[in-house]
Amino acid sequence: MKINRYVDISTIDREAKKDYIDRHSAFLKCDAKAKAGEKFKVKVIVGDEYKHPDDFDHYISYVQIWDKEVMLAQATFSAGAQGNAPSNLEVDFYIVPTKNMKLTAYAYCTKHGLWGSDEHIVEVD
Ligand SMILES: [Fe+2]
Repeated sequence: MKINRYVDISTIDREAKKDYIDRHSAFLKCDAKAKAGEKFKVKVIVGDEYKHPDDFDHYISYVQIWDKEVMLAQATFSAGAQGNAPSNLEVDFYIVPTKNMKLTAYAYCTKHGLWGSDEHIVEVD
């Protein structure tokens, strides 16, 4: 499966393309430092300035977080879970790290495929 990598939309001119990229992009938000063996929150929001539809044949069906090549967690959604209305789908994951991490998030659109976030380095001690 092709992975669409995050692109800063301020570098793009066409409004339709900005909207397309932004509404599919996974934005990962977490602290830069964590304590080993303690619960650590990783938030993922899909889209920033633009919302993604939630139609029966076109919706965000899962969000994942990865540490390098290892998938840590996934949240799965059904069509209609966002009220059949455009939204910025949001998931809070809680993981317990044991060592430094390089986190990325992915969001999967049933029509437009897989979209990756930027990498986030988390120092764990
Ligand atoms: Fe889509």
